[in-house]
Amino acid sequence: MNILDGKEVSTKIKEDIKVETAAFTAASGRKPHLVAILVGNDGGSETYVASKMRNCELVGFESTNIRYDVEVSEAELIAKIQEINKDPNIDGLIVQLPLPAHIDPDKVTEAIDHRKDVDGFHPINLGRMQRNLPCFIPATPYGIMLMLAHYGIDTAGKHAVVVGRSNIVGSPMSILLARNSNPGNCTVTLTHSKTKDLKTEVLRGDIIVAAIGKKNFVTADMVKDGAIVIDVGINRENSTETKSGFKLYGDVDFDNVAPKASWITPVPGGVGLMTIVGLLKNTLEAAKGTIY
Ligand code: GUN
Repeated sequence: MNILDGKEVSTKIKEDIKVETAAFTAASGRKPHLVAILVGNDGGSETYVASKMRNCELVGFESTNIRYDVEVSEAELIAKIQEINKDPNIDGLIVQLPLPAHIDPDKVTEAIDHRKDVDGFHPINLGRMQRNLPCFIPATPYGIMLMLAHYGIDTAGKHAVVVGRSNIVGSPMSILLARNSNPGNCTVTLTHSKTKDLKTEVLRGDIIVAAIGKKNFVTADMVKDGAIVIDVGINRENSTETKSGFKLYGDVDFDNVAPKASWITPVPGGVGLMTIVGLLKNTLEAAKGTIY
């Protein structure tokens, strides 16, 4: 069993981004600038946005966090997005999800100029991704592809089983793995809550991507020997054992699955760190104008 080490890969790629950013800033006289909008005070979202902002500073970007009370109206939020769309000093804009129930995430996503949509959630970016055209790729799937590439894992012809069909991870992941690209060229099964006999489906996976949001959901009896196991889960539980007051669990029962896997990502220290890398790469591309 080998570990797909998010810490090692993300550190290396961030060093590359830092060098490229310094060159961009020297040539243009300005830093790439990411704005993150956070609505309400969900603990997980606060942590993720803080980490995104910290990593922006680390690689030499400017970052701005705009915060709204949970009561903010959809109209007010969209008006702010439209203002940012027009601001030439802002390269990338993300709105942290989930949003409160009274705000339609699809309306918000479509309000963002697709040329600043560094989350890659806008239908234009998703459509272009499906067609293998230059676009912003959603950060988590992008990070996973960068990790597979870093370790030189040959995915061509393999059967990939994605568990979970979210707009953020499962659905775009299934598209990327099936694309005619490297990594890619997989035969993909996308499973979800209505899938019949999920265990049989997951057992067919040479590659398993677990993105379901349930602690220890993928157990050893669902994994074939030698599988490559990618754990996207970040399930937070309160804990007195850690300084932060919570502990993270993946969607995969790591202790029992790892001995069967050829490669596996840990939680923490796996995919989560790669999501940040995907976002940073997209933001740098947005600033350089190489995609649009
Ligand atoms: N919530 C969970 N993951 C993400 C992400 O990648 N981007 C945004 N905007 N919200 C999220």
